[in-house]
Amino acid sequence: MIIERATVEDLGVILTLRTEASEWLAQSGIDQWAVAWPNPEEQNQRILASIERGETWMVRNEDEATMATVALDTWSDPRLWTPDEQADPAMYMHRLIVRRKHAGLGTEIMDWASHRAHRLGQHWLRIDVWTDNTGLHRYYENNGFNHVRTLDLADYPSGALFQRSTDFGDEVP
Ligand SMILES: CC(C)(COP(=O)(O)OP(=O)(O)OC[C@H]1O[C@@H](n2cnc3c(N)ncnc32)[C@H](O)[C@@H]1OP(=O)(O)O)[C@@H](O)C(=O)NCCC(=O)NCCS
Repeated sequence: MIIERATVEDLGVILTLRTEASEWLAQSGIDQWAVAWPNPEEQNQRILASIERGETWMVRNEDEATMATVALDTWSDPRLWTPDEQADPAMYMHRLIVRRKHAGLGTEIMDWASHRAHRLGQHWLRIDVWTDNTGLHRYYENNGFNHVRTLDLADYPSGALFQRSTDFGDEVP
């Protein structure tokens, strides 16, 4: 597994991964990511800006084929996190997508993200998850995340907040 920063050339690949994921989810009747949020232009701009800030990562195999992607930043959204929580040193994870044929990689990628956050002095790895997707909430809980709260926001679809500590005890990050 090779994890490297995305470049602007990866934007199209990331959008393809997102489309593949939404189509896969639709087969199970899950509407997550069925439409771009808040619209395609702003979504693409948001992803591009993350790439340009060096905050989007590509997970590739030895043949340089993309297996997954994830974005990590330290900006806490004041609509989601309280002032006290915002004061915590935390890393925020976005757009974690694992291609179907590489299903199972997510845990390893989140462990890498936790170690990275820990090395950078961030005590928490946090994520905001599709508000009513309880199957996905369970996935994060099974991966050691605690549910913080669920916000029902009219203008933001991912109001279920989760976090896990990046402190691995005696394990060397
Ligand atoms: C979530 C994800 C990154 C996990 O990857 P992974 O750790 O490699 O594990 P898998 O893909 O095998 O998924 C683990 C389980 O979660 C379920 N799951 C994954 N994404 C889900 C979603 N968005 N909604 C509901 N269930 C989901 C899978 O069906 C699977 O269930 P199973 O154990 O009963 O087979 C990957 O499934 C994915 O890219 N999902 C679509 C995009 C997504 O929802 N990303 C998270 C945004 S917060």
